[in-house]
Amino acid sequence: MSITVRDLVHVYHPGTPLETKALNGVEFEAEKGKWVAVVGHTGSGKSTLAQHLNGLLLPSSGSVSIDGITIGPGEKSLRAVRQKVGLVFQYPEQQLFEETVFQEVAFGPKNWGFTPEEIKNEVEKSLAQVGIGPELFGANPFRLSGGQKRRVAIASVLSSRPDYLVLDEPTAGLDSSGKKQLLSLLVDLKSLGKGIVHVTHDMDLALGLADMVFVLDDGKSLLWGPPELILWELLERDIRGLVIPPLVRFAGRLRDLGFEVPLTWDPIRLAEAISGSRRK
Ligand SMILES: Nc1ncnc2c1ncn2[C@@H]1O[C@H](COP(=O)(O)OP(=O)(O)OP(=O)(O)O)[C@@H](O)[C@H]1O
Ligand SMILES: [Mg+2]
Repeated sequence: MSITVRDLVHVYHPGTPLETKALNGVEFEAEKGKWVAVVGHTGSGKSTLAQHLNGLLLPSSGSVSIDGITIGPGEKSLRAVRQKVGLVFQYPEQQLFEETVFQEVAFGPKNWGFTPEEIKNEVEKSLAQVGIGPELFGANPFRLSGGQKRRVAIASVLSSRPDYLVLDEPTAGLDSSGKKQLLSLLVDLKSLGKGIVHVTHDMDLALGLADMVFVLDDGKSLLWGPPELILWELLERDIRGLVIPPLVRFAGRLRDLGFEVPLTWDPIRLAEAISGSRRK
């Protein structure tokens, strides 16, 4: 069971002076129960790819399949795909449109024909999962703070119980406790078998949490592999838009100084290695 993208090309405004080839032959895969991080420089095509994964954008050429359903322009395939894949937009304002927080989060389950009791349960559960209390259920989503809007936008996707979650920079605008809470929720959802596709600029998060990292560069697939492999590539060559996490630089410096420590982004592993190295 997976989302499979083959030779995907996306051209915005074809045949006009604004024509832009945002994706150019992308190959990508996200499996259920796995976390894939999508990284790359600004304008590399991350948000464009994210919007293809639930059929919000349709391929100019190439294909996107979700658990064997190939996305086509037909209403039936799009409906099935949108229920399976929840997309959290890069900017929550693009996602919110209802008059109250409750209605916003109830929209998906209503649309999929959940019973009134299921709708209420899903709305309450999803809002609790993102840390929004009942006092905000009647609030206008547009009057919330940036971090609260982000939380409501995430809840509005969780409430449809999707099999895959595609989140475009979901931690932007959250404070550190909101960020921690969201990431631990995503870890739980992954362990329940959901597929997570996480678009991020934060290499610490990508290396620390993902099973696989996908690097886009100028609309093309540049690298695909587990965090360890991506880290070695990052150390070997400059990759536009990606920075080596400070802790990895620190580990590299320690190695230059003769300490036998691994190149790692994990502070606990590094601390243990330093302590082991000193005792030798
Ligand atoms: N609606 C649009 N119309 C025309 N061109 C677009 C549109 N959306 C994106 N583009 C162009 O497509 C390319 C890829 O954009 P995209 O937003 O997918 O990049 P991104 O990797 O998500 O960038 P960022 O890190 O800044 O969010 C860019 O050249 C961008 O200018
Ligand atoms: Mg983007």
